[in-house]
Amino acid sequence: MQKLAILCFLLIFLNNFIVQAQSQFPYFRRGHIPGTQIPRFERHPQGRQYHRLQLGLGATGAESIAFDCEGDGPYVGVSDGRILKWQGHSVGWTVFAITNPKRSNTCNGLNDSPAEQNCGRPLGLKFNTATCELYITDSSVGLVKLDRKGGVATPIATSAEGVTFRFLNTLDIDSETGHVYFTDSSFRYHRWEFRSINRSDRSGRLLRYDPKTKRVTVLLRGLSFANGVALSKNKDFILVTETTTYQVQKYWLTGLKAGTAELFIQLSGRPDNINRNTNGDFWISQNPTKPIKVNESGTILESLDTDIIVDASDVTEFHNNLWIGSVIQNYIIYTS
Ligand SMILES: *[C@@H]1O[C@H](CO)[C@@H](O)[C@H](O)[C@H]1NC(C)=O
Ligand SMILES: *[C@@H]1O[C@H](CO)[C@@H](O)[C@H](O)[C@H]1NC(C)=O
Repeated sequence: MQKLAILCFLLIFLNNFIVQAQSQFPYFRRGHIPGTQIPRFERHPQGRQYHRLQLGLGATGAESIAFDCEGDGPYVGVSDGRILKWQGHSVGWTVFAITNPKRSNTCNGLNDSPAEQNCGRPLGLKFNTATCELYITDSSVGLVKLDRKGGVATPIATSAEGVTFRFLNTLDIDSETGHVYFTDSSFRYHRWEFRSINRSDRSGRLLRYDPKTKRVTVLLRGLSFANGVALSKNKDFILVTETTTYQVQKYWLTGLKAGTAELFIQLSGRPDNINRNTNGDFWISQNPTKPIKVNESGTILESLDTDIIVDASDVTEFHNNLWIGSVIQNYIIYTS
C-alpha cells in the first residue's frame, strides 16, 4: 500500500515535471505536431481563489457589502451597530458611521441581542452611484442615509401605511430616479427573533421610497420573511427573496404585468441577499446550500460549491471579483 502511494507520487511528480518542462522548453515537446495545442498542466485549476478577510475591531456579522463612488471599500454593517470601512492592509478597518444617534461605545462587540434596539443593526448597505450617498436599512432604526463623510446617519423613514418597520432587511437603488427599494422582513418579529419566523408569518413587505415626494409606497405585502432585493438591469422588474419559503419572487415594474408578482425561482436553500452584477445576472446567497448565480430567466449559471463558504448572506460582485458577507462569521471572503 505504502509502495503504491510512493509510486503514484513519483509518477505525478514526473508528469508535472515533464509537462512544465514542455511548456517552458519547446524542444522537450516530443511528438508535437505543429499547430496543435499541448495540454498544459494547471497548477491552479481554472476557478476562483478564495481569501478570508478578518473584520477586526471586535466586529462580527457583516450581513452585506458595498463599495463607494470612488470604488473604495468594502463597507460593511456589523452586529453591534457600526458601519466599517476597509482601508487596505496598512490601515485596516475603520469606523465609518453609526445608525442610531443614541448609540454608545458600550454597544461595541454586541452580537445577536435585543439590545441592538439601542445600538442599531445595519443589515442592508447600498450607495446611490449618482449622489454617492450611502443608504442603509437598519433593522432596528429604519431607513437611513449618510453622505461621503460618514458619521451619524440621517433618518428617512420608520413606517409605511401607518405600520412601523420592525425588521428592515435590505435594499437596492435606482440611481436615475433615486428610488430606494427595500424590505421589511416581518411586522411581527424583531430581527433577533428571526429563528421564530416560520412560513405562517406572511407579514413581509416590499417597499419603495421616493426621495422627491419623501413617501414610502408598499409594492408587495404578504411575503414570507421578505429578505434580499435586486433591481433588474433594465429596471423592468425587481426580485425579492422569501427566506422561509425558499423562493424568489419577481415583481414587475413596467409593461403589461406591472404591479404584479410571479415566482422567479424555487431554491434548494433559504435565500438571503440577492445582488445583480454589471452583466445583469444575479447572485443569490442561500443556506445551508451554497450561493448561486442565475440569469434573468432563472437559469443557474454558477454555484459557489466550496466548503470555504459557510453562512453566506451576501455575494457582491465588484470588478469581476466576489465579496461574500456573513451575518454570523467574523470575517468576509473575497475571490481573486
Ligand atoms: C409558526 O408561527 C406561528 C406564529 O407566527 C405559531 O403560532 C405556530 O405554532 C408556528 N408553527 C410551527 C410549526 O412552529
Ligand atoms: C439564461 O441561460 C439559459 C441557458 O444558457 C439561456 O437559454 C437563456 O436564454 C438565458 N437567459 C437570458 C435572459 O440570458
